[in-house]
Parts: sequence; C-alpha cells; structure tokens
Amino acid sequence: MDMRELGHSGIKVSPIALGTWAVGGGPWWGATDDDASVAAIHAALDNGVNLVDTAPTYYFGHSEEVVGRALEDRRDKAVLATKCGLPWDGDRGPVWYEQDGKTVRSCVEPASIRRELEQSLRRLRTDYVDLYQIHLPAQPPLLTPVADTMGELMKMKAEGKIRAIGVSNETAAGLAEWSAAGALDSCQNKYSMLVRDAEKEVLPACAANGIAFLGYQPFEQGLLTGKIRMDTPLDPSHFRSTIPWYKPENRARVIAMLDGWADLAEKHRCTTAQLVAAWTAAQPGMTAVLCGARRVKNALENAGAAALVLDASDLARMRADVESLS
Ligand SMILES: NC(=O)c1ccc[n+]([C@@H]2O[C@H](COP(=O)([O-])OP(=O)(O)OC[C@H]3O[C@@H](n4cnc5c(N)ncnc54)[C@H](OP(=O)(O)O)[C@@H]3O)[C@@H](O)[C@H]2O)c1
Repeated sequence: MDMRELGHSGIKVSPIALGTWAVGGGPWWGATDDDASVAAIHAALDNGVNLVDTAPTYYFGHSEEVVGRALEDRRDKAVLATKCGLPWDGDRGPVWYEQDGKTVRSCVEPASIRRELEQSLRRLRTDYVDLYQIHLPAQPPLLTPVADTMGELMKMKAEGKIRAIGVSNETAAGLAEWSAAGALDSCQNKYSMLVRDAEKEVLPACAANGIAFLGYQPFEQGLLTGKIRMDTPLDPSHFRSTIPWYKPENRARVIAMLDGWADLAEKHRCTTAQLVAAWTAAQPGMTAVLCGARRVKNALENAGAAALVLDASDLARMRADVESLS
C-alpha cells in the first residue's frame, strides 16, 4: 500500500484505514460478535492496513477493549488511534448525550484527559497510543483554554505515552488555534461522497499546513457500499437510521447512482465499496479514509481498495454524479 505521512509526526499510515465504532456495538449499531471483530481487525492488518481508529465512546470502552485484544500479540503492526474529551465518569463540562444510564460530557481539562488516557491504555492493553485525538472540540464549545489542553497533550508526548496529536470534528479556524498552541498532526472529520463539506475549508487548511486529514464515515454507514437496497430492513434505533440519505426518496437516488457505476466496477474488477473507497482516498488533501468494519469480508474488501487506481476520467465522472445528487 502506498503509505502517507501522518502530519509532521514521521508516522506513515495506509490510505485505507480501519474504523471500529461498530466494533463497540451498543444501541446505535446493534449486537456485535467480538470474535468476528477481532478476526476483522487481524484481516485488515494482514492486508496492508495499519491505521486502526477507535474511541472510548464507542460504546463505553467496548471498542477499545476489543481492539486491545486484537492487537495484544501484534501491537507493532498497528498505528493505533484513539480519542479523548467525552468522559462519562466525571461531572465537569456540558452534557453531550445520555445512554444506558450514563452521562457523556464534553471535557478537555488537563486532569480529565490524563485520566482518560490511562483508562484507554488499560483497555487497549498497551503503554502508548500512536495518535491521540480530541474527539469533539467545536461543539458544545470547550470550557478549557486550547493552550491548557494542548499543553497536557504535549506533556503526554514528551513522556512517550502518545506519539502524535490530533483533533476531530474541527473547523479551519480551530485547526489554526490548536496548531498555534502545539504540534498538531491530524484532523479527523466527516467526509463521504455525499457529504463533502470538508472540501470548503478544512481539507485545504490541512493540505496547506501539513496536517493529515482522516475522513470518517466514507460509506455513510453502509449505504455507499451498495448493499443497502430499498427493501433492506432498517432498525429505527440504529445510528444509520438518523442519516437523511437513508430516507426512501434519497436512498432511491443513491442506489440508482451506484448501480450506474456497474461498468466501472466491471472495468476495474472491483466492488462498489471499493470504487467508493478508492475515489474517496484519491481526493486532494485526503490522507486516510476510515472505513468502518466489524466483519472479515468487509475488512478484506475495503483493504483491497488501496490497490485500486481510478483513471482521471473515472474520478471526474463519479464526482459529476455525486455533485448532481448532493
Ligand atoms: N470522529 C468522529 O466523530 C467519528 C464519527 C463517526 C465515525 N468515526 C470513525 O470513522 C469510522 C468509519 O465510520 P462509520 O463506521 O460510522 O461508518 P462507515 O465507515 O461509513 O460504514 C461502516 C459500516 O458500513 C458497512 N460496511 C463497511 N464496509 C463494507 C463493505 N465492504 N461491504 C458492505 N458493507 C460494509 C458495515 O456495516 P455492518 O457492520 O452493519 O455490516 C460497517 O460497519 C468509524 O468506525 C470511526 O472509527 C469517527
């Protein structure tokens, strides 16, 4: 796999990365099979993927625990990314959401992120995290000065507990603030073919400042793989049911667009998911595409997209189609 720089950290990451929100399971994803998730993580690592992204909030530590189990005997094969800033064991900061009797707050006070790091290291069965990211700095607004939080992250780095610092769900102005306060290496924001807001300011800001851009939810939680059809039953309590593209009138248009690329899939001998992942990885400023997977089949298929090189005309045709839709 052609590897890409993770900001200024000296760490190299695969353009197709593995996202593990679904590995956590919980009400937003439904039941998960931990053994299958471990096998999926191993399949990704064995097929060229090195960046594995998780977070404490991916069902109250469960995703981190499963990732920790999967990496225990192969920690050196992975660039392990996790997050902080949404604790559920404190009483500081505004409430972000409540689930299963737990209250998740937005808090990036130095003592709080320090406590979160120690908890994550335990769950991940490791003594360092490669990329430590502030999960949600922009909304609700942080009550802690950026310099205080960044100062603590820089201390963690000096101690060897983290190797690179990132933010997630951030604006271009926010990136400038974090960068002014310390060594910012990456920004993880939403980016899919259907939701390209990052193209306006954040992707150009990252490219101009050597900040890696990690695009999350590239498949709109499965819709852009082509596997979700008009008659696919959706559980209203699952997170994907909140995505407007799943409404029948929108879903029909997306499915028609994907079906219209059958000739491209045939030409490249690939699947729809691979076309979408490869297109996303080829966008200017994109460092890595966080493809979520909790099944071996999906992890293998997504890893395979890294080898797919789309022609300029394919890329342009797909862009014209998504722009006419969204
Ligand atoms: N920083 C943030 O705030 C934030 C927010 C969201 C996501 N993320 C990160 O980004 C990652 C990706 O986002 P996401 O997991 O929400 O959504 P996603 O990557 O758009 O979709 C993941 C889901 O799509 C299905 N899928 C994946 N590959 C497939 C394939 N080849 N064929 C058929 N179906 C396939 C699977 O559904 P099933 O498992 O149901 O089969 C999978 O769980 C997350 O895991 C997380 O690491 C970060």
